[in-house]
Amino acid sequence: MPTRPYVIEEMISAKTIAARIEALAKDIHDAFEDTDKLIVVGLLRGSFVFIADMVRELDLPVEVDFIEASSYGNSTESSREVRILKDLRGEIQGRDVLVVEDIVDTGYTLKHVVGLLNAKGPKRLKTVALLDKPSRREVDIKADWTGFEIPDEFVVGYGIDFAQRNRNLPYIGAVRFLEDEA
Ligand code: IMP
Repeated sequence: MPTRPYVIEEMISAKTIAARIEALAKDIHDAFEDTDKLIVVGLLRGSFVFIADMVRELDLPVEVDFIEASSYGNSTESSREVRILKDLRGEIQGRDVLVVEDIVDTGYTLKHVVGLLNAKGPKRLKTVALLDKPSRREVDIKADWTGFEIPDEFVVGYGIDFAQRNRNLPYIGAVRFLEDEA
């Protein structure tokens, strides 16, 4: 579906993201230092670049799994209903789990997924989000680790899309609609 014309303004550079992930990985390593195996669960699809970079910085025995939940359609409007489109492949009961999310916006997605995964009885479950938009929060949830707090802007890149586009940008950019500036 075509969207209104827009440009992308760089907000967080690839270099800044890489440095932040290195620091996050150190903190996560310290929290799970004694683990026999950390199951890293990526929320599809927006976290696929973040999880790829994160696991390569984590000097721990890891397993990677994915879960897909939907809360956004092809627009900038959030819908409140969270549906699971793809569940985990592996078991997490009694295991150490790290949930990797791209953006915590209203918080519905992360809250729903954390509730679902906690019901499976993990030993420890922690969350990391690359981006957080605290001003948009509608439910009470905060990731255990956050890469960057950002203002209420619609962002793309580094795995994050606008109507399935721009996931392949190496940086995080803000979407600016052209007619808004006319
Ligand atoms: P929440 O349930 O409102 O917290 O929404 C979380 C999901 O909405 C994220 O995982 C993203 O997929 C999507 N989302 C939230 N903000 C943005 C954005 O600025 N750009 C693209 N997707 C977003």
